[in-house]
Amino acid sequence: MNHYNSRRRILIAIVAIALLIGLAASLPACSRRRVHDAPPSYGKPYLTWQGDPSTTMTITYHSEAEPASVVAVYDTEEAPEAYRYRAVGKSWQIPGLPDGRYINSVELTGLTPGQDYYFRVGDDETFSEQYKFRSIPDGDAPIRFAIGGDTLPTRLFRDLTRETAAQDPLFLVIGGDLCYADGRFERINRWNAWFDHWHDQGVTTDGRLIPLVMAIGNHEINRREGNHEERAPFFFGFFPQGGKTYWAHQFGGNLGFIVLDTNHLVPHEEQVPFLEQTLRDYDPLPFRAAVYHVPLYPSFRSFGDEYTVAGHTHWLPLFDAYNLSVGFENHDHTFKRTIRLKNNKAHPEGTLYVGDGNAGVPPRKPKCGRWYMDKTARTPHFWIVDVSPTEMHLRALDRKGNVFDEEVLTAASTEH
Ligand SMILES: [Fe+2]
Repeated sequence: MNHYNSRRRILIAIVAIALLIGLAASLPACSRRRVHDAPPSYGKPYLTWQGDPSTTMTITYHSEAEPASVVAVYDTEEAPEAYRYRAVGKSWQIPGLPDGRYINSVELTGLTPGQDYYFRVGDDETFSEQYKFRSIPDGDAPIRFAIGGDTLPTRLFRDLTRETAAQDPLFLVIGGDLCYADGRFERINRWNAWFDHWHDQGVTTDGRLIPLVMAIGNHEINRREGNHEERAPFFFGFFPQGGKTYWAHQFGGNLGFIVLDTNHLVPHEEQVPFLEQTLRDYDPLPFRAAVYHVPLYPSFRSFGDEYTVAGHTHWLPLFDAYNLSVGFENHDHTFKRTIRLKNNKAHPEGTLYVGDGNAGVPPRKPKCGRWYMDKTARTPHFWIVDVSPTEMHLRALDRKGNVFDEEVLTAASTEH
């Protein structure tokens, strides 16, 4: 009997311990963020351009609830309680996005070129903390920007953006495949993670938010039928850039910069009139650059890829005729720098092509022996580009902040 009671007490003790362990294990789950809580990136602003980057800036942030109004207050001096300027924006939602977030955006206009601005965003009742940006300088002031493509919210992306931000660029260009969400609402957490990374890293050493120029890639597009906004809901919904997939901005007095769509929503051929007119407009400038997703001179994929062939057919004659200084290419997840090329041949004053979209995705080993390559590697990187009236200096920066390749284009060498 005693033996039976003893076994019974042991059994009860085991059950009690098991219950306590179960309760303890459940506690962290109870304290975890509820699934419908707002992501940490809500309320934090990021920057794009819809207009002239010297005189405008578009500030956007996300919120769980619809704000009563969207307001930015700003000034050239730090004055968190007494800004002189105020601008009103608007909110929208991405139709069908289950989290129902509001995207709130306000464009500042009439800015002074090359000027630091301090700002807060809010609804006139409450405002964010103070942030800072710099408008693009005009004239011959030096322009430094960063550029790469195929980003993912990985440790690698975090390292690369940290080292890139430490170079104090005026803006960052991402040449498509922004976070591999494929325009699918069930992958919204990838964007949440991407924005968390960017809000942590996309700040210069003196505290300026780095504006983004976002080109479209194949992973911005879903398989749904519909208009452009429905097929690339995050690209258009998150990044106000004028509502198209191809456009151009002049950055300062020496660089014309063209963003193109390698047939993800708009065929190459359809962009030809825009491309020709823009290259003609930029012809007097020392430097002309283009960014697009699928390379004309790939380092991994086939030279016969249909998107590559379309680029050669429709764009390359214009790049050659108007002496494009550099084509920033992506999609292949490698490092590459070509020889100078014109009419699809080596030419000492031809266009330089660099890439190939390797800023957060798992890198690939480039193919060997392609006639148009000067250098290839697997190394993830962003390019840091400095533009002056006489030189365009490109440096490839790895995840540790080391420069492992560079090239200098001179204005004279790109003249007709
Ligand atoms: Fe791609």
